[in-house]
Amino acid sequence: MRFKVIDREPMDVSSDYELRFVLNDDISMTPDHSTLNLCGFKKGSVCDLPTVKRIYVSIKDDKPETLRLAIAKTVKALAGHKIDSIRLPKFSASEPGELEEQLSAIAEGFELSAYSFDKYKSEPQKTYIERVVVSVSGITLEAAEEAILKGRIIAGATNFVRDIVNEIPQEYTPLKMAEDAEDMAGYYGTVTCEVYDKAYLESENMNAFLAVNQASPYEPRLIHLSYVPTGESYGRICFVGKGLTYDSGGLSLKPTAHMYTMKSDKSGAAAALGIIKAAAELELPFEIDSVLGMTENCVGSKGYKPDDVIVSRSGVTIEVTNTDAEGRLVLADCLSWAQDHVKPDLIIDMATLTGACVVGLGDYTSGVIGNNYDLQMEFKTKAQTSGELYTILEFNPHLEKILESQIADVKNSAPGSMGGAVTAGLFLDRFIKDEYKDKWLHLDIAGPAYVGSDWGYNPAGASGAGVRGCIYFLMKEMEERISPKQ
Ligand code: BES
Ligand code: ZN
Ligand code: ZN
Repeated sequence: MRFKVIDREPMDVSSDYELRFVLNDDISMTPDHSTLNLCGFKKGSVCDLPTVKRIYVSIKDDKPETLRLAIAKTVKALAGHKIDSIRLPKFSASEPGELEEQLSAIAEGFELSAYSFDKYKSEPQKTYIERVVVSVSGITLEAAEEAILKGRIIAGATNFVRDIVNEIPQEYTPLKMAEDAEDMAGYYGTVTCEVYDKAYLESENMNAFLAVNQASPYEPRLIHLSYVPTGESYGRICFVGKGLTYDSGGLSLKPTAHMYTMKSDKSGAAAALGIIKAAAELELPFEIDSVLGMTENCVGSKGYKPDDVIVSRSGVTIEVTNTDAEGRLVLADCLSWAQDHVKPDLIIDMATLTGACVVGLGDYTSGVIGNNYDLQMEFKTKAQTSGELYTILEFNPHLEKILESQIADVKNSAPGSMGGAVTAGLFLDRFIKDEYKDKWLHLDIAGPAYVGSDWGYNPAGASGAGVRGCIYFLMKEMEERISPKQ
C-alpha cells in the first residue's frame, strides 16, 4: 500500500474512490445529502454510493482510535470493489502533534485492516486498495509523511507478529522462532540476537522452564534480542514474552474446545519480538531487550506432573498443582534471568497467561498487573493513543495466601477459579527481586491476543496485541523526556 500526502484540496487529485467522514449524522454539507437521507444515514452508519464513487462513514470525533475504526469500516465495505486508489478528506492541524497522531492512526487503520493470513488457502482473497491520498493543511508535507511512515512501521510490526502467531504449531517450533529472531536481528544494524539451547537452560538451573518442555519433541529456546540506538538512550527496558508454541495443558489436559487456538499462546513472545522490530525502524532512543521463553506444553510420558516440585532458577521451590499453569513457570525463570543478565531500568512481561483475565475483562482488554500503581497508571495512560485497551488489576494479600503450598514455597496454581489473573500475577511477583518490585509490569494479553470473529481493524486470528500499546507507551515516554512537563 502506498500513501500520498498533498497540501491541495482532495478533489484536485484523481482517484477511483472518495472517502468522506460525517461527524455523527450531520449530512447537510455533503453533496449526496438527499441520497444519504433516503438511505437513513445515522450515527455509526457507513454508506457506500458506487454510482458517485463515494463512501460516507459516520464518526463521533476525530480521535486516533475513532479514525482507525472508521478506516476499518471503509476497507471492509469496499473489500469487493475493484478500486486501486482512494482519497481522504482534508485534515487540518489544531493542537500541536494532534494531526501527526491522526495521520499515523489512518495509516495503521489501512495497513491493519488489509491484513490477511491466507498462505494455506488454495485461493487467497485479493485486496484491491493500493494507493491512499491524504490531504493536509497546517503542517509540512515532510511532517505528514513522517507521521504516516510511523503508523506504517507500527502496523507493519503488528502484522509481522500476527503472521508469527497465526502460523501453525507443526511449523512454528521454538527453533523456528529462533531463526526468525536471528533473521530479524541480521536485518538491522542496531539489533543483536543470542539464542540459548537446552544445555544452557540446564546450566542456568532454569528448571521451571525445562519442566514445561519435558514432553515436547522440540527443544526449548531462550532468545535474547537487544536493540541499541545509535544516538542518546533514555534508559533500558526489557520485555519478557511467554512463547508457548502450543499449549495443550499437559497432563492437566485442556478440554477440546479450550485447546483449539492455543497456537496463540506464543503471542507474548511474538509481541516482544515485534517491539524490537518497531523500535529499530522508529529508531527509538531507548535500549530495548526482549527475552523470549519458547517451548511447547505437550502430553507424554516424559511430561511434568501435578505433585512434582521444581527448584526454579531463583531458588524458589514450586509445587506443581496444574500443568496447564505453565506460562508462569516459563516466565518465572525468564524474569529471573532477565533481572540478573539484562539488568534493565524497567521490566515488562507479556503473556496470554490466564483464561480468568478473559473472563474478568472480556476479549478486548489486557490486564496491567504489578506492585507500582503509579507505573501501572502511567502505562495505561501512555498506551491509550494506540487504541489498545488496558485495565489495572490490583494485588491483595488475601489472594497471595491461597498460593501457599504445604511442601514447597509456592503452588503454581491457586485452588478454585476465582481471581486467577491476579493470583497468576502474584505468582510471578515471587520471582521479582526487591530492587525490581517497583520497576516491573505484567501484561496479561490473553483476551485480545487472538480474535474469534473479526472486530474493528482485527481480522479473525492473531491481533498482534501488546505491540502498539508498548510502542505508544515508549513514544510518549520519549516525548516526555524530550520536552518534560512543567
Ligand atoms: N494459555 C493459557 C491461558 C489462556 C486461556 C490464554 C485462554 C488465552 C485464552 C494458560 O496457560 C492456562 O492454561 N491458564 C490456566 C491457568 C489455571 C490452570 C490456573 C487457565 O487460565 O485456565
Ligand atoms: Zn496452560
Ligand atoms: Zn498457556
